[in-house]
Amino acid sequence: MCGIFAYLNFCVPCQRQNVYEILLRGLERLEYRGYDSAGIAVDYPEEGVHIVRKQGKVKMLRGIVFDIEKAEYSSIVSTHVGIAHTRWATHGEPSERNSHPQSSGEDNSFMVVHNGIITNFKDIKQFLEKENYTFTSDTDTEVIPKLTHYIYHHTEEGETLTFPEVVERVISQLEGAFALVFKSTVFPKQIVAVKRGSPLLVGIKSERDISMDKVNISYRQRQSSGDDRAFNEGGQSAEYFFASDASALIEHTDRVIYLEDDDITSIVDGSLRINRLQKHAKTDETASRQITTLRLQLQQIMKGNYSTFMEKEIHEQPESILNTMRGRIDFSTDTVRLGGLISHASAIKRCRRIIVIASGTSYNSGVATRQLLEELSDVPVVIELGSDFLDRLCPVFRDDVCIFISQSGETADTLNALRYCKSRGALLVGITNTVGSAISRETDCGIHINAGPEIGVASTKAYTSQIVSMVMLSVMIGSDRISKQKRCTEIVQGLKELPDLIRRVLKKDHEILSLAKELYDEKSLLLMGRGYNYATCLEGALKVKEVSYMHSEGILSGELKHGPLALVDENMPCVIVVVKDNTYTKCHNALQQVKARQGRPITICEEGDSDVQSMSYRSFSLPSSVDCLMNILAVIPLQLLSFHLATLKGLDVDCPRNLAKSVTTE
Ligand code: AGP
Repeated sequence: MCGIFAYLNFCVPCQRQNVYEILLRGLERLEYRGYDSAGIAVDYPEEGVHIVRKQGKVKMLRGIVFDIEKAEYSSIVSTHVGIAHTRWATHGEPSERNSHPQSSGEDNSFMVVHNGIITNFKDIKQFLEKENYTFTSDTDTEVIPKLTHYIYHHTEEGETLTFPEVVERVISQLEGAFALVFKSTVFPKQIVAVKRGSPLLVGIKSERDISMDKVNISYRQRQSSGDDRAFNEGGQSAEYFFASDASALIEHTDRVIYLEDDDITSIVDGSLRINRLQKHAKTDETASRQITTLRLQLQQIMKGNYSTFMEKEIHEQPESILNTMRGRIDFSTDTVRLGGLISHASAIKRCRRIIVIASGTSYNSGVATRQLLEELSDVPVVIELGSDFLDRLCPVFRDDVCIFISQSGETADTLNALRYCKSRGALLVGITNTVGSAISRETDCGIHINAGPEIGVASTKAYTSQIVSMVMLSVMIGSDRISKQKRCTEIVQGLKELPDLIRRVLKKDHEILSLAKELYDEKSLLLMGRGYNYATCLEGALKVKEVSYMHSEGILSGELKHGPLALVDENMPCVIVVVKDNTYTKCHNALQQVKARQGRPITICEEGDSDVQSMSYRSFSLPSSVDCLMNILAVIPLQLLSFHLATLKGLDVDCPRNLAKSVTTE
């Protein structure tokens, strides 16, 4: 939800056009986070700042950005600050005036880009209006640069504030979730960034060897103690990049700092300093922020031979699930070892209840694995949507284990549920795909799913890797019990074969394309299944509606006769998953019922199931695997179907309308 990118080069000469290019490329990498409108602000001779904002995707902004005088375009800037933003609208419709950067006023003395929501913006706005500030947008963000302006001009007599001190006072007044980057004409060549609840990283690139591996944090800008260490104290030439996500930084540098909530990060005279809000002084355990090295490769965030990220990510699944298992399963002994859980494994095995909390696709992966987790743990497993869980203030106990599944690791609904469970003393386990994300940092232990960056807004490879992670967790829990060992061995052997089986499914993409050609004009699509494959239908329906905008519903086929059957007639396409697990006969009954209502069932069944195939209008067959892994194979034709439906309709599958990849607001 909204992407922030900022760039400061200190004593690193570069053409102005390069600054624009760096900012635009940064935004293009972050576009999956929001693509309603975009904007940039860069230093500009005489006027002080050049702001360009445009409704629509970053390419629309790119189209008008270079509309400046040639001389300025090619002039060299040695030290320069530029901030940029791509927006997913929350307050105010997508439009130029609601785009970021938002400004303090006509002179643009303070400009801000913002990710998140300011919940007390109305109170601040009322106050500022009384102080004669005029607002020109409908955003919550606009209060921030205006409040910054107000605070800067209302100091005690004789007091002069530095840029980070002004920002510290501003954020002390803000409530909500945010990542913010400030630029100012009053403090030229400086930048200040801060976060609370929304992600923000700083990337560091230095020509000379500034070989620090951490930056100390301090509490008062002016009372720095001797051991406060800024990065690049003394100001050698260096470049700094701020971004909502590592994928926007990797082409410039692999040295990054993941900022913590209430870190006020400033670059003044080329040195990077991190100050903290004073209120944390007593409770902070770490006195520094590590400079870490990203393991991400540039090619991982490129489309390669594919035209869209979604297609690439669907086809990556044989490798991505292998990466999820790599180093964690010993196929010679059929054992699972999850390094990230070892220190809490006995507590997990002793617990009285497991609560799995997630949203969207991640929630569906919880539904897909619930049955196995119950079977191998012998404890009740509850699956919760993050938003609903918090609405109900669900009772949570100290001996509960709460598992949070999230691709991004920053979904607000899931994160807020996590914080609620933490306050009740439960053990917190994170299953995420993003190293350094809020969920991975705030949980006690966890599994990194290692699916690689997922850029398409519609989650595909993360889903199957989440299932594999949950399956490994279940096996780890069950494998100590003799009664479960045979089952665990069977599952581990099934996991070993899975990448090859996925390859076989992907090879039949042409069958799905021809099905999509028949279906893409339909108004609605029903998907039904049960047991392990109820989740397959939920996820298939989510994918179809997300990228093709076709109405679709995932139905538990046991519920068919309790209502949804009324929808079935000769016009309603119905996909039915019928695989040979313990629900086979019942799914077969559902198929009969659809047939009896003149429906034209499209089945997903196992190879060689001529009985189901003969009853089907169209049928797609899957190679056989262990029952609890069939849902990984069965979801792939549905991912492909949604992709082809959308592509045939000419839709942008990577950036579906109204959506954003990570939802960092409630
Ligand atoms: C998936 O296709 C969706 N874009 C969405 O449902 C997503 O899964 C959900 O917002 C949760 O995100 P997370 O996994 O990053 O927490």
